[in-house]
Amino acid sequence: RRATLLEQALTTDERIALVHGDQAMPILGTKIPAGAIGSAGYIAGIPRLGLPALQETDASLGVSNLLDMRPGDVATALPSTLAIAASFDPALAYDAGAMIGREARLKGFNVLLGGGDNLIRDPRSGRNFEYYSEDPLLSGAMAGAAIRGTQDQHVLSTVKHYAFGDQETGRMQFSARIGEAAARASDLLAFEIAIERGHPGAVMCAYNRYAGPYACENEFLLQHVLKGDWGYPGWVMSDWGAVHAVAAANAGLDQESGAQRDAQIWFGAPLAAALRSGAVPPQRLSDMVHRILRSMFAVGLFDHPPKPGPIDYAADGAVALRAEQQGIVLLANRDGLLPLAKSVRSIAVIGGQADAGVLSGGGSSQVIPVGGVKRLVPVGGEPPFGPYLSMIFGGSAPYAAIKAKVPQASVHYVNGRYPKAAADAARQADVAIVFANQWMGEEGDAPDMSLPEGQDALIAAVTAANPHTIVVLQTGGAVRMPWLAPAGAVLEAWYPGQRGGDAIADVLFGDVDAGGRLPVTFPADESQLPRPVIAGTGLAAGQPFDLDLGEGAEVGYRGDAARGVKPLFPFGYGLSYTHFAYSGLHLQGGNALEVSFDVRNAGARAGVDVPQVYLTRGCAGASQRLLGWARVELAPGQTHHVKVSADPRLLADFDVARQRWRHPACRVEVAVGASSQDLRLRGGAALDAVSIAP
Ligand code: GLC
Repeated sequence: RRATLLEQALTTDERIALVHGDQAMPILGTKIPAGAIGSAGYIAGIPRLGLPALQETDASLGVSNLLDMRPGDVATALPSTLAIAASFDPALAYDAGAMIGREARLKGFNVLLGGGDNLIRDPRSGRNFEYYSEDPLLSGAMAGAAIRGTQDQHVLSTVKHYAFGDQETGRMQFSARIGEAAARASDLLAFEIAIERGHPGAVMCAYNRYAGPYACENEFLLQHVLKGDWGYPGWVMSDWGAVHAVAAANAGLDQESGAQRDAQIWFGAPLAAALRSGAVPPQRLSDMVHRILRSMFAVGLFDHPPKPGPIDYAADGAVALRAEQQGIVLLANRDGLLPLAKSVRSIAVIGGQADAGVLSGGGSSQVIPVGGVKRLVPVGGEPPFGPYLSMIFGGSAPYAAIKAKVPQASVHYVNGRYPKAAADAARQADVAIVFANQWMGEEGDAPDMSLPEGQDALIAAVTAANPHTIVVLQTGGAVRMPWLAPAGAVLEAWYPGQRGGDAIADVLFGDVDAGGRLPVTFPADESQLPRPVIAGTGLAAGQPFDLDLGEGAEVGYRGDAARGVKPLFPFGYGLSYTHFAYSGLHLQGGNALEVSFDVRNAGARAGVDVPQVYLTRGCAGASQRLLGWARVELAPGQTHHVKVSADPRLLADFDVARQRWRHPACRVEVAVGASSQDLRLRGGAALDAVSIAP
């Protein structure tokens, strides 16, 4: 009602001014508009009506400050969202989103371009570190919680990049091809769940095309699904430079972002002309503006404007610490090498710039961590972005954190540039800890799953010199591990965030249990991927191509189950320093599926487990789908009773002809496992027929 009243009070020119925004970064030839703080986006307010400006900052891992555009403006850097997802703890995602919201607001921003929720279909994609999972339920649950956390701080969040922006290669050219039933059950379900749970004020449409039309002018995605089926009340903003015609307004786009990056400011003079000619009806413009105002009111941008003030970086750093502690995944631990005893006498810490800080990902999500950039390693490349591409290390350094754990031990750092020097240092120490980095960034995918820059050879040399070698991976996702067999232990630390070194040391020495579980499959190598060679590889820049998502909704563990593929490490996998027993499976069928069971800590030390519930055979036959999970912290001998209610959309298939989620009355099979391939309890239940609207 407030939005309606305000919208009616606007002039046409004011309406038009609200539906396109500037990139407000003082880089690449643009400058900061008057009134803007200096960030990804800015839309001027209308003081005469008390309509605040939209000060829009990136993004999902903290308040970004790409290329230090606001000189010296640091922020708490969260670990990659892969680590948040690996915690399988939506409450943690909420806290992480709230932390970013708090810092954004205290810096004067009222919009966070966060909520990255693309399905991770390929481990080589350059932005996986900004996304959560290969599974739609885990992705949607985590993104939804993070969005809710941010918006509870009265900072409006987006969910992005809608939809199928699942690789960086040719991101502005490719057309995603996937049938509607599979689309609904995969990427779209991840967005649907995030929107249901997080109520994002805005949805950011993606650069790519879907089934032909660009996502930002795609009637099916924007009108039929998002605003029609899902009844989404907020607004659709474009990605930066993703608008190609004023007609996008009639297809459901509500606001053009970063407009200078488009061939024209389509939602400026061309939109005014289209209004005059009737090509865009005036009520469409009113709806565009109403959606923006309605979300601004709903999130509290009018009633709770940002109040710049001091930030409690210590408290916010504690959120980042907890996120990384809960997100580290212990992949291998031969002969109980970990946790390290405090009596260890000597440690060689090797490589990965571990003496400087921890690795972060590149692109619009880049945060300058509190304490500033500790080391910057240029990557290089062609203009316009190449000269700026750098690996940024900051936050707590692993080397210092490890040393602090064992002050009486002899702990030395070797930079790892020469495998022989590293091997010599490893040979002379009780334990070697070698850090291996895979830097990823927006605008580029990794060409394969290898660890770059000779790190495989480095690790092989160190493991050959000392069997008590621990490999700590700081990667954007799954990598090949040719050195796995001789390694004593392997941790996936993702991009570890502001307190990353401290969290890694906490897990290495057992001060916290290794509680993370893989939110993505770690394939053995590229041959296990639906597209061993990334679509679009080798095409001339700007050449359109199809991204044929032939795997459909059978992404990651689902496809592996269907094809009997054994990955290097399966979805949901992760070791603990103790072990757990599952028992007492009980299934309740009928008009819904309820699953309950007990998990007990059967070991001698406290620890974390994430028992997972999977559908293993649905009404239409064998198919593995995550239905739910619990993250439990248990003392030795302690038992926890778990209850999971299955979302009916996960038990159904989308019937395109009828446009409904449906399954007949049938018997389904369910399993409880410690990973998608370690299924320990099995049972079945009879379900009534289901037919529900999307
Ligand atoms: C970028 C990204 C998007 C980001 C926006 C503003 O190109 O695709 O995620 O929020 O532009 O920086």
